[in-house]
Amino acid sequence: MTLLNPSAVYAKRRAAIGRALQAAGGGVALLPTAPELVRNRDADFPYRHDSYFYYLTGFDEPGAWLVISASGKAGQRGKAAQGTIQSTLFCRPKDLEREIWDGIRLGPEAAPAALGVDAAFSLDVLDEQMPALLANQPAVWFPFATHKGLETQVDGWLNKVRAKARQGVECPHSQHDLCRLLDEMRLFKDAHEIAILRRAGQISAGAHVRAMQTSAAMLRAGKTGPGSVKDGLREYHLEAELLHEFRRHGAQFPAYTSIVAAGANACVLHYRAGNAELHPGQLCLIDAGCELDGYASDITRTFPADGKFSPAQRILYDIVQASQEAAVAVTRPGQRFNDPHDAATRVLIEGMLDTGLLAKTKHGNVDDVLASGVYKQFYMHRTGHWMGMDVHDCGDYTEPGSAPQDSGEKDAQGQPLLKKPSRILQPGMVLTVEPGLYVRPAKGVPKKFWDIGIRIEDDALVTAQGCELLTRGVPVKSSEIEALMR
Ligand code: GLY
Ligand code: MN
Ligand code: MN
Repeated sequence: MTLLNPSAVYAKRRAAIGRALQAAGGGVALLPTAPELVRNRDADFPYRHDSYFYYLTGFDEPGAWLVISASGKAGQRGKAAQGTIQSTLFCRPKDLEREIWDGIRLGPEAAPAALGVDAAFSLDVLDEQMPALLANQPAVWFPFATHKGLETQVDGWLNKVRAKARQGVECPHSQHDLCRLLDEMRLFKDAHEIAILRRAGQISAGAHVRAMQTSAAMLRAGKTGPGSVKDGLREYHLEAELLHEFRRHGAQFPAYTSIVAAGANACVLHYRAGNAELHPGQLCLIDAGCELDGYASDITRTFPADGKFSPAQRILYDIVQASQEAAVAVTRPGQRFNDPHDAATRVLIEGMLDTGLLAKTKHGNVDDVLASGVYKQFYMHRTGHWMGMDVHDCGDYTEPGSAPQDSGEKDAQGQPLLKKPSRILQPGMVLTVEPGLYVRPAKGVPKKFWDIGIRIEDDALVTAQGCELLTRGVPVKSSEIEALMR
């Protein structure tokens, strides 16, 4: 087990959840970490903790539960809280035999000092202790629909509490989704999280630089020169460079399966690095980022495999890059989550009309194309998502407390579709900005653009003034990419 961070950070977050429970009338929050998963026969997938659990504990061993019990009232307007907030951890007991095989366990005896929890028990007594923790509590909070079998487990504990009704024990009479509280907290990154996200972004940017430089060097070397690869440069060679760079800087995992797409493969949005050969004259799209200490990064760059854009590639690349600039310019407090998407889409559509990807005579102007949606032939995804512990992080995309309004779209019956307005950006939020263009061969599409797929993606932290791009350690302008690869 690695304790990467001072336990005070997590104690502060647990206290915030405790206060939220108190504000809702008191109760108990319970939260398991993720299970270990078998990959095949005796081999497990590398263990990855549950993000919510880690957010509140900093504890990355499997077989653990956190319980936060909050009684009494939250403090109001400067008044101290009346009541108590207690956190209890259940974790795997010390076991010399298992530790010889699997590694050291923290154990319940050491947990309070190491993690700052008030009490800790062995996982062996979970079923015994949980009904006692739930007894006489007004409400139970746990993550809904995220852990297989959790609802059944909670039902079992509640039944044990209810069985003591004649002895005067009361059973929680309401259940709430703990994710509701945690999602909103996790949407706003604290200083501790921002520091890790910055570092994750730097490492990933360095990995993209390394992949670009390797690509140019290996193609220059050909199949026989020094540093050459006999069977040609393949997508997996560049994936290996990324993984090398992630790991050598201490990142534990890729945050998601790396995409390394040669040429036309870039038009497959969820392509995985395969064994396709990269040729001079082709573009290569890499969408890859590391996970560092539980936090993701998410970068896409598209570059010429041999370091020089062809005229057609450069035209489309510069359109995507301009669209990203337009999106970044509106990634600031007070704008809405959808604004970067809308800004990028307008620039992309202008580009589609200027280049003849869409014929002006047939499709009209930018507003006509926006209304018809015909641009989705070349740009079919959204421009970003929240990012944090999970690459597609939690957090509401619509403004909490706002009323649904006419979205301008129609439902299946042709009636106006009501939607809540998109989320207002605030400092501390982290989102990606990732426009793209994907040109599959099709009638009416200029041939010189066929099979070109381009995406550019950076991670943006919303600040008081605008945004800070966490991933700009790798160049983004076509001329700068060429200079790097020279
Ligand atoms: N790499 C996943 C994404 O860009 O959303
Ligand atoms: Mn992304
Ligand atoms: Mn990505």
